[in-house]
Amino acid sequence: MVRLVGISGSLRQQSFNTALLRGAAALVPEGTTLEVRTLHGIPLYNADDEAATGLPATVVALKEAVAAADGVLLVTPEYNNSIPGVFKNAMDWLSRPGTDRTYPFVGRRVALLGASPGGFGTTLSQVAWLPVLRNMGTNVWTGAKLLVPRAAAAFDEHGTITDDRIKEELRAFLEKFAAFAAGR
Ligand code: FNR
Repeated sequence: MVRLVGISGSLRQQSFNTALLRGAAALVPEGTTLEVRTLHGIPLYNADDEAATGLPATVVALKEAVAAADGVLLVTPEYNNSIPGVFKNAMDWLSRPGTDRTYPFVGRRVALLGASPGGFGTTLSQVAWLPVLRNMGTNVWTGAKLLVPRAAAAFDEHGTITDDRIKEELRAFLEKFAAFAAGR
């Protein structure tokens, strides 16, 4: 069994990126699971809080999920042509060793995907992630791109993917990434 974890970088209830991640969970190939995670409950990083009380329980739980995964999908919105602050904040927490001195992203196989109502489908935020992921020591997969532009037309009001072309692209993307995550 190939275990994937996906993290949506939006806290918004009607988030296109969370909808994309949920859609992905329904499209993974046979023999693959995809656990859907969000950033709810992760506080703003503050080194004083970390020194006083260590990593918050929400961060520890996400670190454990990442450590147990063969591959991680980062489903990223784009804000001001870059990474949304809430998502970067969460990754900053996740890059901290904590009391058990672990770095679950080191060597972890990671893929980027994202959705935007605009015309470019998170191209620039995906590029902005690259130096962060390199610094964290991840094994970034570049075998395919998954960009969802004009997201308002790609999902219905329940967050279901209605664009068949996107669905097929996502299915193919997941099949290739699952194989990479499995070491094939
Ligand atoms: C945006 N949005 C946006 N979209 C884009 O394609 N490029 C961009 O640079 C920006 N910049 C930006 C800045 C800020 C502060 C906000 C709030 C929004 C629009 C963004 O893609 C849109 O709100 C998405 O719906 C966010 O993703 P979720 O929440 O739907 O997953």
